[in-house]
Amino acid sequence: MQTRKATAVSCANVAFVKYWGNHDAKLRMPLNDSLSMNLDALTTTTTVEFDDALEQDEIVIGGEPANEKAKARVVEQLDRIRKEAKVAAKARVHSRNNFPSAAGLASSASAFAALTLAGTRAVGLDLGERSLSILARQGSGSAARSIPAGFTEWLAATNVTSTSEQSYARQLLPPDAWDLRDVIALVSADAKKIGSTEGHALAHTSPFLSERISRLPIRYHRVRRELLAKNLHDMGPDLEAEAIELHMIAMTSRPPIFYWAPGTVRVMDAVRQWRSEGLEAYYTLDAGPNVHIIVQAKDAAEVEKRVRELGEVQQVLVSGPGGGAQESEQHLF
Ligand code: DP6
Repeated sequence: MQTRKATAVSCANVAFVKYWGNHDAKLRMPLNDSLSMNLDALTTTTTVEFDDALEQDEIVIGGEPANEKAKARVVEQLDRIRKEAKVAAKARVHSRNNFPSAAGLASSASAFAALTLAGTRAVGLDLGERSLSILARQGSGSAARSIPAGFTEWLAATNVTSTSEQSYARQLLPPDAWDLRDVIALVSADAKKIGSTEGHALAHTSPFLSERISRLPIRYHRVRRELLAKNLHDMGPDLEAEAIELHMIAMTSRPPIFYWAPGTVRVMDAVRQWRSEGLEAYYTLDAGPNVHIIVQAKDAAEVEKRVRELGEVQQVLVSGPGGGAQESEQHLF
């Protein structure tokens, strides 16, 4: 085959309603619908080139050859792309995040969304948004939501007759529809001891998972409605409840997973305090200790200033709503 190089840029996302647990782990078919905002300040750029001359896939992440675990996961995704395109050639993959990799924010969502778009374009496939989202989902569930732009929802497709093709993400609002900011307080740069994939598998051992899943549709529709109405005041309490519930499931799994650090609790306390003083801010957390504080753009500078004053906070990043996965001409090699 002719070699062709393609590059894609994709945003990380922060979930307002969380994905935690799969009903089909191999295909990454989630237990519930989830909803998120792409983050324009946190992007991954990935260049892929398929080349018959290569004997094996060559994966470089942040300028270094990928470790075995990361490499295996990227190769699995390349295999899905090869299968779809019916080609055998191995690939050269270079990937880079624009945010500090030591920050404990390493994002599989931006990584697998960028890899899926760059990989499919490099192999000559021209998939639409829905097909890209389905393919990205199989590499990392949350990556499905980083394919469309802005605020997106990922449909779980949990009926017994549901197929993999029915579980994909679509846009709810474009990025410029709502001027929200995510003020990210980094309280620990340590690498996660237990990755999300393991967390999803362990979720089934929590006695509270089935309770969560049975109650979630009501919350989901409320958050979705408030998002479409751009009503942070009414959406905020559900954002916080989602974060606590995700971690409650993690903490009650066997063995339990504790993602929180002392600084996590400190920032959550501070946000509640600021709110009581009239500053409208709500926290959420993904599978790690860092705290995402969701605010309207007009309050972002004040919240950022206050977060920086907290002793436990090592670094602060501020992000607005981001676009979808996009091709770029700025190749990494
Ligand atoms: C806590 O998408 O990282 O961020 O499918 O195994 O790659 P894998 O998991 P991943 O899980 C993300 C979980 C979360 C919540 C969310 O983003 O919805």
